[in-house]
Amino acid sequence: MHNYPEGVNTHAGIVMVGSANMDIVLGVERIPAPGETVLATSLAKHPGGKGLNQAVAAARAGATTTMIGAVGTDENGNELETVMTEAGIDARMLRHVAEPTGTAMISVDTTGENAIIVASGANATITTLTDNELDAVRGATVLLMQLELPISAVAQAARAARSAGGTVMLNAAPALEVPDELIDALDYLIVNEHEATVLSGEADLSDASRSLADRVNRLVVTLGTQGSELWDAGKLIATVPARRVTAVDTTGAGDTFCGAFAAAISQGRDFETAARFATAAAALSVQTHGAVPSIPHREQIEAVLAS
Ligand code: RIB
Repeated sequence: MHNYPEGVNTHAGIVMVGSANMDIVLGVERIPAPGETVLATSLAKHPGGKGLNQAVAAARAGATTTMIGAVGTDENGNELETVMTEAGIDARMLRHVAEPTGTAMISVDTTGENAIIVASGANATITTLTDNELDAVRGATVLLMQLELPISAVAQAARAARSAGGTVMLNAAPALEVPDELIDALDYLIVNEHEATVLSGEADLSDASRSLADRVNRLVVTLGTQGSELWDAGKLIATVPARRVTAVDTTGAGDTFCGAFAAAISQGRDFETAARFATAAAALSVQTHGAVPSIPHREQIEAVLAS
């Protein structure tokens, strides 16, 4: 007998175990070097956090999505919860804790490139999952996670979903070393170039990709304007080109890719089709400022794919 809040969908397509942050975004001519002060050209506040961004991307791409995470009992926490519910995400398991809601300080330069510092706040309180949260994880078609929550909770969720036969997907961002037991529980690993080298301990990207591809069933290495590489059972099976667009803000582009990709996989699309769908979603996202505000809906993604 499970104790779900009334009406919680225990077979949600995607269960997100991830972070939620309020992003403070500073537009700059160029990202400051160590020891340097620069003047910002703009200041904005947007909902963000890798978990929230990816959950919104999955929901807007048409997947039933449940969020497991934590916010503070503050104004930012309320705003982020509203963003989740407005996106159609089931946020009834979201924890409200005494620590402040996570905050990210983001500089975005004139080419759309960014640098991010995260104060974890409430996110850091999720060191273990409750029985109810684990039950929800076991009901997931796809469990999607990143590394902005304590690794203990991420590993626990991965084990639970794996033992229940769900598909376990990790976007290993931000770049951290990850215990072998977590890597071993993954069906899909999604990394960018930097994350691939940190995670594998290999300085060369092709060595890094090969080494990671040998450890997980399926690997996606995103390469920014160079597209992405898809690896299956240790072999490079496809390279998906990026779409040529003018980027104004790349914040959340990787998250949009991951959420849209997870949505497509949860809906039964094959690996390469899901990656093409996610690539189109990410291309749309870089053309608008902010993380959550830039995440496209399914119809927009389909229109790009059809064009
Ligand atoms: O990936 C972008 C996200 O990273 C931002 O929204 C910020 O909150 C950090 O988590």
